[in-house]
Amino acid sequence: MKHDTVTPYNNSDSKKEQIAKMFDNISHRYDFLNTLLSFGTQKGWRKKCVKLLADKKPKQLLDVATGTADFAIECAVLSPEKIIGVDISEGMMKLGREKVLKKGLEKMITLEYGNAETIEYSDNTFDAIVIGYGVRNFQNLEIGLTNLLRVLKPGGQLVILEFSYPKNAFVKAFYTFYFSYITPLIGRIFSKDKRAYSYLMESVKAFPNNENFVTILNKLNYKNTSYKTLSMGVAAIYYAEK
Ligand SMILES: C[S@@+](CC[C@H](N)C(=O)[O-])C[C@H]1O[C@@H](n2cnc3c(N)ncnc32)[C@H](O)[C@@H]1O
Repeated sequence: MKHDTVTPYNNSDSKKEQIAKMFDNISHRYDFLNTLLSFGTQKGWRKKCVKLLADKKPKQLLDVATGTADFAIECAVLSPEKIIGVDISEGMMKLGREKVLKKGLEKMITLEYGNAETIEYSDNTFDAIVIGYGVRNFQNLEIGLTNLLRVLKPGGQLVILEFSYPKNAFVKAFYTFYFSYITPLIGRIFSKDKRAYSYLMESVKAFPNNENFVTILNKLNYKNTSYKTLSMGVAAIYYAEK
């Protein structure tokens, strides 16, 4: 698929290696830039995702592409027995572990190295899986989503939060300008990685639109799939069950 070939540095390393390096490079500024560049909206979006899980009271939770652990920490309100966060960037998780410790959540939340496409938990392990801004970065989207379906329990829930490309012409014009010029400029100044925040726009543009992403989930045998756009279509929450 086209989006699987969009990479940060366009060199001969695999997408996985390039993504891990990019997030290691920007980890020290990730939380700050995330809040700045999203005008602080991201926390509210994660809260909306967590609400979708509340009714089923998941006990075993997996936060894929956990990064600095914000989604895992947000899931703590569900009072599960365990939340495991996995990521391919040790740099991001180092900061995540510090945050988990600061919040006194280290008994509930554990962060471990893991690639969504190859994690080896047993079949039917998790009641729920969340992924925040992770799927766009997978080396192979369908392999990743198939492996996650395997580790989800029957009836288990998958909630994905991801940027999307708005449909409204006016919003799209602003979004394109903002992500093509402002975000890379601010990202370059603060994170010192020239490509990271340009890759963001390229990867969002190349990623399947809302309907196509749901079609992929259906094709891979996820059930009860749906999506909801956020903030005039600049992001979306995808919901599915096994
Ligand atoms: C934009 S950050 C998102 C962090 C966090 N989920 C959040 O909501 O802020 C994306 C993360 O996905 C991780 N990632 C990318 N591909 C991955 C994969 N195949 N398996 C696990 N983590 C992955 C990156 O290392 C990075 O930390």
